[in-house]
Amino acid sequence: SIPKFVKIVEVGPRDGLQNEKAIVPTAVKVDLIKMLVSSGLSVIEATSFVSPKWVPQLADAKDVLEAIQCVQGAKFPVLTPNLKGFAAAVAAGAKEVAIFAAASESFSRSNINCSIKDSLYRYREVAHAARNSSIPVRGYISCVVGCPVEGAVSPSQVVYVAKALLDMGCTEISLGDTIGVGTPGTIVPMLEAVLEVVPVEKLAVHFHDTYGQALSNILISLQIFWSCKNYMMGIRTVDSAVSGLGGCPYAKGASGNVATEDVVYMLNGLGVKTNVDLEKVILAGDFICKHLGRSPGSKVAKALSRI
Ligand code: HMG
Ligand code: MG
Repeated sequence: SIPKFVKIVEVGPRDGLQNEKAIVPTAVKVDLIKMLVSSGLSVIEATSFVSPKWVPQLADAKDVLEAIQCVQGAKFPVLTPNLKGFAAAVAAGAKEVAIFAAASESFSRSNINCSIKDSLYRYREVAHAARNSSIPVRGYISCVVGCPVEGAVSPSQVVYVAKALLDMGCTEISLGDTIGVGTPGTIVPMLEAVLEVVPVEKLAVHFHDTYGQALSNILISLQIFWSCKNYMMGIRTVDSAVSGLGGCPYAKGASGNVATEDVVYMLNGLGVKTNVDLEKVILAGDFICKHLGRSPGSKVAKALSRI
């Protein structure tokens, strides 16, 4: 069986756009976020306070966040890689932040220019500052089953980082298959290992759809399953991006995130509540895809445009 309600964390404006070469105007990003809010999505990752040299697309983080300050109905967490980013985010009005570590050493170096150990030291500082300001911190782990450089990643590497993020006070830990190589065959052993140290209600899954495995991986993550010792509850938080936008600039070959439209369609079919209006997410997908000059990326939008 599966949970009755699943929280969708929409990462399109951040993970979806961060890899786009042509700079999307701030006003378009803000309109996209507003359309996503109106579809009922309750958590929308809005942008990142990272180095603009590393991710030029999100150099307008301050302007985006300030422009949505009075938008009601959703939370707008932002990525903060260090104290500098955290301070800038808070000054711009951030009420939730996310830190992002990796399970693979090579990816940590290429994405945030430091070792896993050094990143955890940095994130402990961010988490501490966040606690002092009563700001919840989400912790990401990238490359939970595979790394573009090192290949297969063992569950124990994920457990090590998950435990560290939990201990520093992360309220939610999102497990990212950054390059989308996982199948239920690798996702399940990884989840079983992480569930030994992190309570299920604090876990989220974050799949990229490179090999077309994302929906299968989500479904298996939601299921309540039997592990070596006892029943494991299914995951109740799923990350996705409108129209399947995305890819990490430092994960060569990674395709987009799983599309929010496809996730909502599957969950509707399963009778799982999300409080998200599929039609309105499709409209948001049409809007951003028109701007990017491409056809909508979700399977659902493609199917409906043919009917
Ligand atoms: P660094 O070059 O080692 O940092 O980068 P530094 O401390 O030496 O600073 C270098 C320059 O950046 C300095 O400026 C700093 O002031 C500036 P300069 O003196 O040269 O003019 N700087 C900043 N500027 C703005 N905001 C900041 C900031 N920090 C330093 N916060 C750093 C280290 C972490 C900053 C860099 O590597 C970086 O920004 N990386 C971010 C990369 C990124 O955003 N990747 C994508 C997100 S992760 C992801 O997509 C995976 C995920 O979706 C999960 C999944 O899919 O699995 C989460
Ligand atoms: Mg991602």
